[in-house]
Amino acid sequence: MDASTSPSTSTEAIRRRVDSLGWYHSIDVGHGVVTNGLSRSGTVDAVMPDLEGKSVLDIGAWDGYYSFLAERRGASRVVALDHYAWGVDFGAREAYWRECAAAGRLPDHRRDIEDFWQPDLPGKQGFDLAHELLGSKVESVVGDFATMDLAELGTFDVVIYCGVLYHMKEPLTCLERVRSVAREVAVIETEAVHVPFLEHVPLAEFVAANEVNGDFGNWWIPNMASLEAMCRAAGFSSTTVQVGRTGGVKPALADLRQTGRAAARRLLRGQSTGGLLAGVPEVGHYRAVLHAHV
Ligand SMILES: C[S@@+](CC[C@H](N)C(=O)[O-])C[C@H]1O[C@@H](n2cnc3c(N)ncnc32)[C@H](O)[C@@H]1O
Repeated sequence: MDASTSPSTSTEAIRRRVDSLGWYHSIDVGHGVVTNGLSRSGTVDAVMPDLEGKSVLDIGAWDGYYSFLAERRGASRVVALDHYAWGVDFGAREAYWRECAAAGRLPDHRRDIEDFWQPDLPGKQGFDLAHELLGSKVESVVGDFATMDLAELGTFDVVIYCGVLYHMKEPLTCLERVRSVAREVAVIETEAVHVPFLEHVPLAEFVAANEVNGDFGNWWIPNMASLEAMCRAAGFSSTTVQVGRTGGVKPALADLRQTGRAAARRLLRGQSTGGLLAGVPEVGHYRAVLHAHV
């Protein structure tokens, strides 16, 4: 066998191509090579609905982890849709964001498209390489899901909407759009907020700056109650929570429930909590996963 085509050499060549790119997802592209992605979350895999024979739309696909997973699990057709991560020059944007953070001002997000947009889509190279190495038939669509013409996109049995909702300025409108392209179920994964004692009050935290993951592109962090309520308001008939906040309320906090309820009642009446919440645990974030049924 010619050394240039021996398995080890071809694995090395593949590894070099893979390592020449920056990756968001860790994808097993075969040949013993796994891309070195930044994202470590694998919680959605275990709670994906049955994808066998289904048409699947993966909104915000980036390197395509969920698109390729859907293909592997027997989906009949998979469309990977993205826009932002494929076209924005993250290096230039990062430098601008650092300037803003240092100056204590908020970035002008229009610059993503006006100044940092690269029509040759350098951020799609990872998806394209994984697609080639996997011999994938996943189709790709470049589009801003929040504004694009959805009639052209069509409808899908399963819509994957993972890691996108909290990046949306208008989450309810976006969920309505997700509903309009879904035929059976949408899998929604999002950063979520846990506000102790107020779990049943539909709340969303507004984030103006970069306090979540150092990212200026986050806006609304729902709690589970508001995530479910928004899905219903967007036209889904029901929701099933797949991954909620794990661990629950610590036993030591159970005694504080009454205090929390009293404080919540006062807050909802627009009154001061009268110091009732002093010493209660911090508001915290977690990643929630929900199935929204059509
Ligand atoms: C945090 S990443 C999540 C990637 C992947 N879905 C996952 O869960 O691992 C957010 C993705 O959503 C994409 N995105 C954000 N806004 C979008 C929009 N309006 N239309 C399409 N994709 C969008 C970004 O480009 C990025 O790829």
